Amino acid sequence: MKLKTAIYSAYQNLKNNNIKSALLDSELLMANVINKSREYIILNMNKEISKKDFDNYQNIINQRSAGKPVAYLTNYKFFWKYEFFVNKNVLIPRPDTELIIEQVLKIYKNKNNIKFLDIGFGSGCILLSILKERGDFKATGVDISSKALKVCKINAKKLGLQNRAKLYNSDIDKFSLGKYDLIISNPPYIKNFDLKYLEKEVRIFEPNLALNGGLDGISEIRKVVKKSSELIKKGGKLILEIANNQKKEVKKLLKENGFYINSVIKDYANNDRCIISTK
Ligand SMILES: C[S@@+](CC[C@H](N)C(=O)[O-])C[C@H]1O[C@@H](n2cnc3c(N)ncnc32)[C@H](O)[C@@H]1O
Repeated sequence: MKLKTAIYSAYQNLKNNNIKSALLDSELLMANVINKSREYIILNMNKEISKKDFDNYQNIINQRSAGKPVAYLTNYKFFWKYEFFVNKNVLIPRPDTELIIEQVLKIYKNKNNIKFLDIGFGSGCILLSILKERGDFKATGVDISSKALKVCKINAKKLGLQNRAKLYNSDIDKFSLGKYDLIISNPPYIKNFDLKYLEKEVRIFEPNLALNGGLDGISEIRKVVKKSSELIKKGGKLILEIANNQKKEVKKLLKENGFYINSVIKDYANNDRCIISTK
């Protein structure tokens, strides 16, 4: 069978199952199955595909039809400048989270040897991207998920950073190691009640531990802020990703814990997404 026939049939299948990016996904998944780039696929639509590859492709397309995200099917996702290994045990890195990296690079442009902590590292996308950018920084990370720890270690190795990141599997509540110039966190911040309104791809396939912010949505943020106020050096900064409707509550929480609010950064959709504060 020709590539174009297989891709067209996959496209129809995905479209009938309401997958929005049906053509792009069909091409990306084909590229992944035959281990070529998407550009190769587009330029070689008349090439034949083996029976084995086609069966494999069909299987993957059926999983995509059921809503499984492309990143969990290909096991990678680009974030910042790097490719991260991902699986069902970690949140798929989101472009909005790159705001944190931008802010860190801006704030510490003229400062060296910063010691930072990432609370809830997941795939390691934030922690490892910062380490890649700043060879003089030292990182510690903590995540409640032992499965996320495995993924983050894979990424640390992939990026040659295994000796520069200290990674721990612990609930932040029980973590009390070190003092930091900077603490970063993209914690779970979706209200328990609102989880059911998330898109199926997120709700069914991404880890609840990475999404569930408890009854009021800020249970984990509360833990992060409280613990950060103990682990941060005087004058140190806390950079938090939040949901677009949490600015007021989180600002209040930060002030109650002795933080001064520096700024609230908006994401690409103009929603409040990130709060920067100083102890
Ligand atoms: C929204 S995900 C963020 C993952 C990654 N930093 C990113 O930005 O893609 C939140 C992460 O926090 C972790 N987590 C949730 N509750 C935690 C807790 N109490 N202590 C430590 N980590 C926690 C989850 O396992 C998950 O990996």
